[in-house]
Amino acid sequence: MEKKKLVVANWKMNPKTLSEAQELASAVRQEAFEAEVVLCPPYPFIASLKSLGAQDCGWEQSGAYTGEVSPAQLKDLGCEYVILGHSERKKYFGETREMVNKKAQAAMQAGLTPVMCIGENIEQEMEIALVGTDPTRLVLVYEPEWAISTAEHFKEVTPEDCKIAVDAMRKQFEGPILYGGSVDSRNVARFFQRGGVQGVLVGSASLDAHEFIQLVKNAVLA
Ligand code: 13P
Repeated sequence: MEKKKLVVANWKMNPKTLSEAQELASAVRQEAFEAEVVLCPPYPFIASLKSLGAQDCGWEQSGAYTGEVSPAQLKDLGCEYVILGHSERKKYFGETREMVNKKAQAAMQAGLTPVMCIGENIEQEMEIALVGTDPTRLVLVYEPEWAISTAEHFKEVTPEDCKIAVDAMRKQFEGPILYGGSVDSRNVARFFQRGGVQGVLVGSASLDAHEFIQLVKNAVLA
């Protein structure tokens, strides 16, 4: 049987309240999708929503690290996936590729699957990203920062551009590769059909239940 497509929703620092988060999650969960749908809400909502994903984690499992959340804690709450190395974390919070790699190793030790973003310099980034990890338990995402819907200098990535990047990533990695950057219900099918990916990482379009449900349905049909 063909493996289910993976749709990861990165809610970023949204929504503002727990009740809005509960409403969004329950609307999405009323649907029975033929896809693996992973919601990644902000940390404070994870326990209440019993979400499968988180947006980041620290690289230690416990200890004196003020403000950090460990992979072991996320696993204990029921998370299976953690997004790592998002370009917004690099841009606003000074994350380096080495830090992301340490997080990936710690996440794997805790039994989480890292959903690791690779952006602008595919070969160099992958070389660092994969050190010490088990590539059979890793998901990679091609997500260049200019393709994100909120980017200051937005530039569209076409499915054909995506395919070129995915082919480059395939030289070093055999597992699932997702595409992220302005994916919505209208363009999602093309990334599956022509972009060479097994899933998508969705930002803005995952914050509207109706739009997100349509996006997942179109992904399944693609
Ligand atoms: P958008 O879907 O809003 O472009 O965000 C993409 C993203 O950053 C997902 O991680």
